Order: sequence, then structure tokens, then C-alpha cells
Amino acid sequence: MSRSKIFALLVVAAMILAACAPKATATPVVEPTAKVFTYADMTVGFIQTGSEGGWRAANTASFKETATKLGINLKFYDAQNKLENQVSAFRNFIADPEVNVIVLAALETTGWDDVLKEAQAAGKIVVIEDRRIDASSDLYATYIGADFALEGQNAGKEMCVLLKDSAKKNVVELVGNVGSSAAKDRGVGFRETMTECGITITQSQTANWSATEGKDVMAAFLKKDPDIQGVFAQNDEMGLGAALAIKEAGLKPGVDIKIITVDGTAGAFKGMIAGDINTVLECNPLLAPQTFEAALKALNGEKLPAWIPSQEGIFYQKDAEAIFPSRTY
Ligand code: AHR
Repeated sequence: MSRSKIFALLVVAAMILAACAPKATATPVVEPTAKVFTYADMTVGFIQTGSEGGWRAANTASFKETATKLGINLKFYDAQNKLENQVSAFRNFIADPEVNVIVLAALETTGWDDVLKEAQAAGKIVVIEDRRIDASSDLYATYIGADFALEGQNAGKEMCVLLKDSAKKNVVELVGNVGSSAAKDRGVGFRETMTECGITITQSQTANWSATEGKDVMAAFLKKDPDIQGVFAQNDEMGLGAALAIKEAGLKPGVDIKIITVDGTAGAFKGMIAGDINTVLECNPLLAPQTFEAALKALNGEKLPAWIPSQEGIFYQKDAEAIFPSRTY
């Protein structure tokens, strides 16, 4: 018999066997229905840095108001700018059976690995907001916040514009809390672009985001070496404090010494309208809607990008009066 005939016979035999085989009764497959989380199922433990100024107040208000609006149970913790308070609050939220999401605005970039691992083992979703941290992005759902390095780079470029006709370009820097990503990255970014026009940072010191400290540090800078043409204040409060010290030294802030700040709070707009502050780099504190949305997606098993950046602009003294009424913080 030819090979093709054998093959044909085998096919026919297989068809007959299949037709005669007893019909299997189909057992319905019951898929376990995965729970779909809504905002009403979310209890968020939010670890805030503290209440150091206008930006922080707006950030806190954003979380409290958005939680109420969305029906989220928010457990708010103010760490009073103490790292040890943040770490112990983190552990308390891990142990709290109601909390399924932990949101952190980190005071410092480092020191988070242990609690992040503990949170992961306990099945809690962690979202980092505002401040970037130095930990593996596998340990948290996402980071939502500004590009602080870009803010610093833009500040350097804007200072070049302000000092373009100045023979000397000596700039002093008022730094935020030194371990924070906002302070580190803004400082690095500024140094990257200031060289484009020959700026020199003659003095640099922390003033811890505070107007009072900003004033004191600026007064000390002026005493030590008054040959200063510009101030890069890493937030509005420190810049406003510096303006007061400049006035007390008999000089005109915004004219004799140019001032650039970061944030875009109402205080900075008033400072621009008064002529004391020249340029403000926006840092958006209204991060709660994006944060809660990301947390909900993560609770429902969605994989998120490691970083969701916020959108920011630059504000100039000449436009301040017109923009001010539309500002919300
Ligand atoms: O992390 C954002 C910074 O924190 C703001 O620029 C500063 O004002 C705040 O305290």
C-alpha cells in the first residue's frame, strides 16, 4: 500500500474514533472575580515633611481637600521636619490594618530601603510624592513630583538673563534642607547652566526653606562679602527673607541684587509685584489628584511608570500683577 493511502486510512480511523468517543460534559470554569478597588476603599496614610512654608501648606491642603472630595479616608501625619518621625510614622502605617496606601513626602533622599521592604512584605501600596528618594523603584508604585534638576537649570539660565549686562556675576545660594532631593537637585541643576554666562557661586548655605533663616543667612553673606549681584533662593520664603536683609543693608532687592526663587506661592507673587523678586520657577504643590489616581491604579494591579513628572512654568516680574489673581496657592 502506498504511503499516501496509509495516511488517508489513519486520518479516517482517527475521525471515526473521535466521533465514537463519549462526549465530555463541560464543567463550567468559575473565574475568581478580582476585587475592583474604588476611592471609597482607600485608606491613605500620608507622611508629610512638616509645615515649613506656603508651598507645603498648599501641598497639605491639596491632599486633605482632594481626599474629602473623592471619599478617601486620609490619615494625615505631620513629621515636623524630623526624619525619625517620618520613619516611625511609616512603620505605624504599615502596622495599621486599615491603611492600604502609604504616601511619603521624604525629608531626605536616603534611609528608606528597610521600611519600603517592610511595606512591600505587608502588601501596602507606596507612592512617593514631591521629593524623589534614592531607593530601587521596584520598592514603590511610582514617584509623583517635579523635575527639581530642571528647575535648577532654568534658574541658572534665568540668572544669566538677569545678569547679562553685569560686568560681575557673583551669585549667592540659599539652600533648602541639605539632605532633600529638592535642595540637592536644584543645586546641581543651577551649577550646570550658570557656567553658560560665567556666573560664580561665591557663598552657599542652608536656610532650611525658612524666611527668617533666609534673612539671617543673607545678612551674614552681605557682611562677609558684599560683592553680590544675584541670589538663587531654592524656595520663595528664603528669597523673601533675603530681600529683607538686602533692604536692611541699604540696597534695593530686584535691582541692585537680582533674586530668583522657586515655588510660585502668593508671597513670591507679592514680592515680584513689589519689585523685590525678579523671576520665579514654578514648583507645583497640588499633587494630590495625580497621587490618588496613581495609588488607585496600583491597588487595582496596574504597573505605573517609575516617575510621573508634574508640569511647571516660569513667572516673570513684568507679568506678576496680571497672573496673580489666577493663582491658587
Ligand atoms: O519639595 C518642595 C520644596 O519643599 C519646596 O520648594 C519648598 O518650599 C518646600 O518646603
